[in-house]
Amino acid sequence: MWVAETVSTLQQYRAQLDGTVALVPTMGALHQAHVEHMRVAKRMAKHVIVSIYVNPMQFGPDEDFECYPRPIAKDLATCRAESVSGVFCPANGQMYPSSNLPVQIDVPQLGSILEGECRPDHFAGVCRVVMKLLHLIQPDWATFGRKDVQQLRVVAALVADLNVPVEIVPIGTIRDSDGLALSSRNAYLGDDERRAGLGLYRALTEARQMMEIQRESNTHRIESHMHQVLESHHVMADYATIRDASTLAGLSHIDTDCLGEIVGLVAGRVGAIRLIDSMWMGEEPSI
Ligand code: PAF
Repeated sequence: MWVAETVSTLQQYRAQLDGTVALVPTMGALHQAHVEHMRVAKRMAKHVIVSIYVNPMQFGPDEDFECYPRPIAKDLATCRAESVSGVFCPANGQMYPSSNLPVQIDVPQLGSILEGECRPDHFAGVCRVVMKLLHLIQPDWATFGRKDVQQLRVVAALVADLNVPVEIVPIGTIRDSDGLALSSRNAYLGDDERRAGLGLYRALTEARQMMEIQRESNTHRIESHMHQVLESHHVMADYATIRDASTLAGLSHIDTDCLGEIVGLVAGRVGAIRLIDSMWMGEEPSI
């Protein structure tokens, strides 16, 4: 497995690869969900490249960029164990040389709602780094998790509108046995915070039950219940909402016969730690 820490080394390794390539973009602190991405990628492509880069452009000024976990030796061991072809783990100066004038990429409809309202520059930062990674690595496929369904939709819109020749592969959410969605930020959670964090999963599963079992179709009642669940777990909610799974537009009324086209999204703070989660309200699409 090669490890490239500079853009020029990456380009040299990339030029030597023959056959198809799948990219697994990450910010490191790899866990079982990332391993699942690598395994799906491996089934599709001859070569898997993992990028490990904590992208400063997608963090707000008061967010956890400085203390975001960076266990690089452990991450490289995980990639090696999964037999990926290479890892790109650049330093900031490589991705954003000071000589470059910044470019802003905006996906206004999808990127300004929900996370975009809470974290105003977040998706501009995500789009910029994703476009750089796609240009540098030129993968045939790139994996993105369904847990962050808004990011998945923003990136899919970006590559469709800019005709980037890559297929975005959505990967299902991987959960711990208690239901907590795997996230690198879970490493920050103590026992009490972890119990509180389960409120996100409960809010989503109870919303799903309301629609699936009680055939509740009133969006307001469902979203109010989600907020109550979060509050009872001491989660400071940023949002708890039911949306169209493709457009993320709000729904005035829910068609309980079409729950596979509806997604629930929640975000909130447990103490100082911000968590997000999402869940399909009917059967989740297969990959
Ligand atoms: O989802 C993430 O880990 C990041 O947002 C990504 C896609 C690697 C871009 O930095």
